Amino acid sequence: MNLLPMMEGLHAAEAFNPSYLDAFFALVGRLEERPLEHAEALRGKVIASVFLEPSTRTRLSFEAAAHRLGASVITVADAKSSSASKGETLADTARMLGSYADLIVLRHPHDGASRVVSRYAGVPVINGGDGRIGHPSQTLVDLYTLFRAWGSFRGRTIGLMGDLVHGRTARSLAWAACLLGMRVVLLPGAGLDWESGLERRLIDRFDYRLRWGRHPLFTDWTGNAEVRILEPKHLVQKVLFGGDKIDINRLDALYLTRLQDERGAKAQGTSYPGVTPEQMQDGLLEDCLLLHPLPRREELPDSLDLDPRMMAFQQAAVGPVVRQGLFLSMLGEAKDSLPSLTPLPSGRSEQILGPCPNENCVSRHQGMTTAWRVVGATRRHFLCAHCDSQLAVDYAGCSSSRKVHPLHSQAVLRIRAENLRPFRERQDAEEMGYAWGG
Ligand code: NCD
Repeated sequence: MNLLPMMEGLHAAEAFNPSYLDAFFALVGRLEERPLEHAEALRGKVIASVFLEPSTRTRLSFEAAAHRLGASVITVADAKSSSASKGETLADTARMLGSYADLIVLRHPHDGASRVVSRYAGVPVINGGDGRIGHPSQTLVDLYTLFRAWGSFRGRTIGLMGDLVHGRTARSLAWAACLLGMRVVLLPGAGLDWESGLERRLIDRFDYRLRWGRHPLFTDWTGNAEVRILEPKHLVQKVLFGGDKIDINRLDALYLTRLQDERGAKAQGTSYPGVTPEQMQDGLLEDCLLLHPLPRREELPDSLDLDPRMMAFQQAAVGPVVRQGLFLSMLGEAKDSLPSLTPLPSGRSEQILGPCPNENCVSRHQGMTTAWRVVGATRRHFLCAHCDSQLAVDYAGCSSSRKVHPLHSQAVLRIRAENLRPFRERQDAEEMGYAWGG
């Protein structure tokens, strides 16, 4: 059972914590105020910008950020021009990149790719979007845009709309919104809802609960009169006792996303949720900021471009300065002064678990053994350490007592995380010398 090496860099929004975000926003604010102060901060550093999927804003804003700090940039802007198209493994590409550059920004079609690269590169890796699971630097852009407008996130309500199952930006943002105590209204297009496992993890990790919210516009957008809301538990007690259904009268922000058809997404019928100028007259949206990671399609019509609530181009505009902040926090003087990101557990390898169930997981495309990590305070779950998919594990053993139990038994909650071992079948555990603990 190998422990994979620790990962450096930024791989998922799960790594954010409140003290990091506070200090990060303050740093980006200083960069905005005094843009020339850090013009030479990364002189002599080389940043590799490796984009194996199309990108305009993300790649150019990372590269602009590097230039603004005096770093040099080497770049792969087209998957066809890299050796990946000749069958080179990600591990080999990573080793090579790590010997040419001080930091790597990676966009990749497979879920969890940046985590693999960071195991072999030996330099920090920033995930510039991996498959459908994560885009944490976009989340920093989204949050900073909201922070500039609001000053604080507490008590705010944000709607996440569109292709939630294939869109990585909304997933990453959901994680950060819950971390910051926001109420999250889920507005997926028909057939485009994300898997329940993600929601369960958010609820468990942030002490949230699930409720149902109503508003006539929700029906127009999703086809359902009631939609799911994730709320901090303390907020629920204050608002009302009991009721699982509430009327929502106000959204502070709406995060729109495009249909990710390059990932196989299909809109059902003609209905893909978006906003219209008429809907923007509704009281629900009176003070609602409209965010979009771009590129946009019909969901955010250009007839709304001059509306003061439209934020998408402000998001795009702060892209470089936010990424300057990231570079400084990993390579520059802020490296030691900024609170640390919360590292993702690096994961353990386990032949016995078989392949990750997610066909788009990088481990499947790179022929790697499944690596796992364990999460959950009130219920344990074993996740793929690369792509965060829930693994088919029904039993958990304790490596110190050498006993195996059904996964959701109380006994498992008492086992220390580092001693937990996952098993698909009871028999697998017994063959490895674990006794049945019931
Ligand atoms: C997003 C992405 O690539 O995930 N774009 C971006 O980074 N600004 C969203 C998208 O492509 O729809």
